[in-house]
Amino acid sequence: MRKWNFSAGPAAIPESVLEETQSELLEWKNSGMSIMEMSHRSPEYMQVASTARQDLIDLLGIPKNYQVLFLQGGATLQFSMIPMNFALQHQADYLLTGSWSKKALAEASKVATANIVASSETANFNHVPDADSWNESSDAAYFHYVANETIQGNALHQAPITQSPLIADMSSVILSEPIDVSQFSMIYAGAQKNIGPAGLTICIIKDEFLATASESLPEMLQYAKHAESESMLNTPPTFSWYLAGKVFSWLKENGGLEAIAKVNHAKATSLYEFIDASDFYSNPVIHENRSIMNVPFLLRDSDMDAQFLNDAQQAGLLNLKGHRSIGGMRASIYNATPLAAIEALTQFMREFELKHG
Ligand SMILES: Cc1ncc(COP(=O)(O)O)c(C=O)c1O
Repeated sequence: MRKWNFSAGPAAIPESVLEETQSELLEWKNSGMSIMEMSHRSPEYMQVASTARQDLIDLLGIPKNYQVLFLQGGATLQFSMIPMNFALQHQADYLLTGSWSKKALAEASKVATANIVASSETANFNHVPDADSWNESSDAAYFHYVANETIQGNALHQAPITQSPLIADMSSVILSEPIDVSQFSMIYAGAQKNIGPAGLTICIIKDEFLATASESLPEMLQYAKHAESESMLNTPPTFSWYLAGKVFSWLKENGGLEAIAKVNHAKATSLYEFIDASDFYSNPVIHENRSIMNVPFLLRDSDMDAQFLNDAQQAGLLNLKGHRSIGGMRASIYNATPLAAIEALTQFMREFELKHG
């Protein structure tokens, strides 16, 4: 039996998408084979791939002067590819708001001069430093930030205005609400939260910015080569791409990003309101930077964490353990997690508090 899955990633996928995939798994549309067994260069697969790409373009309103790439290597490979393509032996600016931006900075530092614009590390990343305090370089190749820090559960809800081209890691927030892509030179995201299964990474890059990329890198590391070959420089992750396409169709059928944003805000508000009204649970992130996708919370008495997680699992609420680096709990409530899951969670939390509070 399927249960409520609060995993941070790989994360819940809409049930109707899984059912449709199941119905097509052995044979895709009278082709005599599974989509997994099909050449990526076959006309059938090319159609699946280009429909998925177009649906993503429609959902996010991606302007024509952007490349939309379907790559592999996870968001983590982007931590290296970005500085290699755009800042090899140059300067780049990094805003430090949590574990993922720290990792991005560490990789960039190996090939570029990576400047820390501001950091909230001394406050355990419980907020995003105010833009007034940012110390931007005058000649940075780009400004990198993580729009939603999956582990700490903080977010910058508006794209910042920066002196250099803006790059956002949107792995855990993409497709959760409308954004204005034209404010960014590059957006990237690992798929395994709001897009589909792991193994796929989406990169959205402005042509003008792409034109500044290094041409001396091995082909597989050059965004321009991936763009020229329409993400088929080598065999792409065909099954993940196909399934991502189904998630995009599901989003479109359900009213697109405006509609899902309403649901996401209702879900997050109801969970934060519940936590804030209790003395038993707490969330450390300052209000204006609270993530709508990842909600970490602590129990008043951390000795009860194991019991909480065990009882939650018994109640059909899975994967609520906080990241190993910070402990406590975390509910990841991506697009495929419905309001009913939040209701089940808050109901359980209420009962747990009554019993142990
Ligand atoms: C914000 C963010 N960036 C990067 C990553 C790393 O992604 P991947 O595992 O796809 O390399 C994650 C993974 O959870 C993430 O949440």
